[in-house]
Amino acid sequence: PIYYVNDKPHIGHSYTTILADVLARYHRLLGHPTFFLTGTDEHGQKVQKAAISNNMSPQEQCDKTVIRFQELWKKLEITYDHFIRTTDKYHINAVSDILAQLYSNGQIYKAEYKGRYCVPCERFFKEKDLGEKLLCPECGRDTEEIVESNYFFKMSQYQQWLIEYIEQNPKFIQPDFRRNETLGFLRKPLEDLCISRPKSRLSWGIELPFDKNYVCYVWFDALINYITGIGYDINSANFAKWWPASYHLIGKDILTTHTVYWPTMLKALNLPMPKTIFAHGWWLVGSYKMSKSLGNVVNPLDMAEKYGVDAFR
Ligand code: ME8
Ligand code: MG
Repeated sequence: PIYYVNDKPHIGHSYTTILADVLARYHRLLGHPTFFLTGTDEHGQKVQKAAISNNMSPQEQCDKTVIRFQELWKKLEITYDHFIRTTDKYHINAVSDILAQLYSNGQIYKAEYKGRYCVPCERFFKEKDLGEKLLCPECGRDTEEIVESNYFFKMSQYQQWLIEYIEQNPKFIQPDFRRNETLGFLRKPLEDLCISRPKSRLSWGIELPFDKNYVCYVWFDALINYITGIGYDINSANFAKWWPASYHLIGKDILTTHTVYWPTMLKALNLPMPKTIFAHGWWLVGSYKMSKSLGNVVNPLDMAEKYGVDAFR
């Protein structure tokens, strides 16, 4: 995945990136053409909120924090081929083109949104899907009420197609029990996806090309990194060479966005699916997920200093 720049990385982020590095090194040793993409997810409310509490502009927050990731990957001898930032111009332009294309194809429409939002997860939820306390079903924290006009992507139309695709392609979501988790999620009716935030509430994002009063929802922007990072829209030879990706490596916290939102977005763009989305479990502190938002973290730089890079890896 590409990581949020709300705070510096901890051993959970280094875990996924080391896994990817091991896989990339292995394939290179075997002489397989290999391209390893990583980067940072820089838009959205979570980053804007971090910037405000650090007394910085969102851009400063990004520019300061991205260095913490890049320095860590250098220290840990991560052999990525490209590091994408979602504030990179080529990425912003491609997201804008994709939004314009989907809007003109009738895949995006405007409607009233009433629901709840979880800032740490950057996810929208319907009130009826939450318990009495309206806590986030993903991370258990408070959600906030949202009532506003927004743009929606017609995700619901792909529900049946997606269920069949997952069933017919057993390698698509791994391990098996994660695949079952996604299929379980898809037993409930799939809603359309809210893909905008009014600038009056959130200004830090990619402006919608068809309505300058809105910015793009951060997940819709972030997932597209997997194709812009290999040349979509700017280098068609590179893109044809590296897409579809062999693996997306993620933690289980972002299973739904990768195995439901992303496939439906690709389908709407007439692009093939990544071959495998592999979701691993969490490093815990006590019984809690180690997390930037919770602050209960172990610093990978300290550990690598103390034990050496190879031992840490
Ligand atoms: O979710 N144990 O970014 P994020 C294991 N920007 N892995 C962990 C972990 C833990 N305790 N904590 C984090 C985002 N990770 C989005 C992704 S992708 C288009 C956008 C790892 O900064 C794990 O890979 O919250 C997890 O999925 C990821 O960091 C989440 O990082
Ligand atoms: Mg997270």
